[in-house]
Amino acid sequence: MQAETIERARQAFAAGVALFEQGNLQAAESAFSEALHWAPGRPSVLLNLGVTRVHLQRYAQALEPLRQALRTETQAADGWAALGVACSELGQWAEALTALEQAIAWGRGHADLALRRARCLSRLGRWVDAIDAYRELLERDVAQAPAWVELGELYRETGAHDQAAICYREALAQGADPALTGYLLAAVTRVGSVPRPPQMYVQNLFDQYAADFDAHLVDTLGYQGHRVLVDGLPAEAPQRFERVLDLGCGTGLCAPLVRDRAAHLTGIDLSAEMVARARERGLYDALIVGDLHQVLEQPLQRFDLVLAADVFIYVGELDVAFARLAACMVPGGWLAFSVEPGAAGSAAELQPSLRYTHAPDYIDALAAAHGFTGRRRLVAPIRHDQQRPVLAHYHYLQRC
Ligand SMILES: C[S@@+](CC[C@H](N)C(=O)[O-])C[C@H]1O[C@@H](n2cnc3c(N)ncnc32)[C@H](O)[C@@H]1O
Repeated sequence: MQAETIERARQAFAAGVALFEQGNLQAAESAFSEALHWAPGRPSVLLNLGVTRVHLQRYAQALEPLRQALRTETQAADGWAALGVACSELGQWAEALTALEQAIAWGRGHADLALRRARCLSRLGRWVDAIDAYRELLERDVAQAPAWVELGELYRETGAHDQAAICYREALAQGADPALTGYLLAAVTRVGSVPRPPQMYVQNLFDQYAADFDAHLVDTLGYQGHRVLVDGLPAEAPQRFERVLDLGCGTGLCAPLVRDRAAHLTGIDLSAEMVARARERGLYDALIVGDLHQVLEQPLQRFDLVLAADVFIYVGELDVAFARLAACMVPGGWLAFSVEPGAAGSAAELQPSLRYTHAPDYIDALAAAHGFTGRRRLVAPIRHDQQRPVLAHYHYLQRC
């Protein structure tokens, strides 16, 4: 390398370090990129570039410089920590775990890294190790509310509901979000009523699930709620509908099944990411992102068919939803939806699975109260859980 080139690389690198220390991350990133241009492959530059990109939350772009640098800078704790953060943010759990363990081994003992490590173990299905990791970090710092919530989630998902409740209570005592944590606690204790899930919880759940939704739910879990619901429309229902609403449309699985029968098809969903997938299908005339209660409060049109496949399990109490639906449906219009059945006499019951069940008599009472007549109820599988079919009730009501 020529002396002039070396000098340019050195100056750009020094500028990058100064800018990083001043907190001017964008300019630091540019300076490190320039240094790399003059000194390609230089580990110290790659390392600083990667770390800066992690601080800028440009995780995907941080991976390559960090991986390259760490091939030779094997003891660079900050580099390993940055790679661990980037990989965990990107859901690359196995590489994140390795990187975080290297960071901890080379002296970075930050609580955030220990929490991320526990999360990786959990996501990799290493539940016993994950529980140990959460317990260990909570012994060191009992005030980590997120760790209590995540440990509670691990217990809840593995069926240890009493242990989960202890963790959620501890999380609440340490200042965890009362709406979400109270909801989780109610799900495992079945004490106290939570009529609806926290909106942010459902929105985040499906925003994060959207990319994998079709592959995971349909291909892995054998989800068929959309198909059973549309195929099960009673024979006396019209062949063609003027205005169809796909409520909680998700990625739009109902659309190809109903499009030929709909002059106009609208989808509503709380999750922008799910709606983005639905839009890609190019089958809806209108798509609206929002909570169904709010969107239906001022209905723009009146529907003669409303479908809600596997949605009400995330809605909870259905009284308001039914009132709004009744107001935006034409007389004689059809309302078709699936629910997971609850015990007779129960209303909307939050389960440890974080889904709600709805008993048939609860649905009958809602129908009567809001001007619907029950026309058909089908009992059929909706998906599989641990190789076993989960049965749903498919209700077909007609607006009086
Ligand atoms: C299991 S998915 C089913 C999606 C689609 N109906 C299907 O059959 O593939 C449930 C969908 O309901 C949506 N959802 C849940 N609660 C909602 C609410 N209050 N308002 C609007 N959408 C909601 C979720 O965002 C999610 O996309």
